[in-house]
Amino acid sequence: TFSCTRRVQGLPFPAPDFKNCNNSEGCCPPPYNGALIQDFYVFDPTLPMRIRQPAHLLDDAYIAKYQRAYQLLRELPDSDGRSWKNQGKLHCAYCNAAFYFPIDKSRLEIHYGWLFFAWHRFFLYFHERILAKLLDDDTFALPFWNWDNQSTDPPLANVLPYAFANKKYQNKSSSLYDVNRNVCTKRPNIIDLQSTLECVNQTATLKASLREANNRIMYNQMVTGAPIRRLFFGESYELGGVAGLGAGTMEAIPHGTVHFWTGNPKATVEFADMGIFRYSAYDPTFFAHHGNVDRLWEVWKALPGGNRKDITDSDYLNTEFLFYDENGNLVKVKISQALNHISTLRYKYANVPNLWIHSGS
Ligand code: C2O
Repeated sequence: TFSCTRRVQGLPFPAPDFKNCNNSEGCCPPPYNGALIQDFYVFDPTLPMRIRQPAHLLDDAYIAKYQRAYQLLRELPDSDGRSWKNQGKLHCAYCNAAFYFPIDKSRLEIHYGWLFFAWHRFFLYFHERILAKLLDDDTFALPFWNWDNQSTDPPLANVLPYAFANKKYQNKSSSLYDVNRNVCTKRPNIIDLQSTLECVNQTATLKASLREANNRIMYNQMVTGAPIRRLFFGESYELGGVAGLGAGTMEAIPHGTVHFWTGNPKATVEFADMGIFRYSAYDPTFFAHHGNVDRLWEVWKALPGGNRKDITDSDYLNTEFLFYDENGNLVKVKISQALNHISTLRYKYANVPNLWIHSGS
């Protein structure tokens, strides 16, 4: 079965101690000064259910709120673990093996393996809760960038969302603006889920074939290429294990390719911000992109055929991470707390069509 292959030490990763962090690129989050690291509460009945909406369908009022949330986040001082900069550092630290475990000298890397989906779900959850707290609005939900939706009616799910790109927002004073984006992301260019590094002039014919190719790659990564857990989630990875043994289908493409498509190949550091791990969470599109990745995890589980279920290996379920929560406390979570996001994390996704389902054969 899934659980008995590639076992290295057979221990789940414990939460990293933020003191055990080193990284030459300045990724380590601030050490925690609070009293105790808290355990994550599994269910807060007072929290309203939040509905994550597709970014292409947001109205002006929502965009204004969304923009304000990032404004407030960017205004937090960096002595606050929740700050914009510290959010970016956290992603950088967890994805550049900055945290180490003195017990066996291993380092934690949350990409290229089975930690990918769950870690990013928590990261978005806390990010969203922090924004909600700053807005003083518990109903606030992050929008998701519905790039897998190639519909032409209504169009534009598969372009850079208006909130990030419209003139009104695409100016340096907008909190949703990021200077380091690829010129390919200019609307109305549509996304290339197998991003080649060139962006070409998008004629109607080219757009039609890109849409078709996007649908085909989605079908491949979600359906034919990932009938079982190991293929979808990626290889197992435990304390003492070697990081990066294998990404799941979706982690590589389209998750990785959307990062590349959005980052600027001509930036001082090539592909900054979205196209490199240590900077990617410094573009607010990161969180909209990952909302869609997270939504597709749920979609995958509902597809017919194959063994499309969550991993049940206890080393996976007991893997722990630390995050700053909305109150600035450091909170310890376990992957098992992420799996049922509707009942435990209290958010869901608005329904959108998954048109690529019809792209088989
Ligand atoms: Cu941690 Cu999309 O990357």
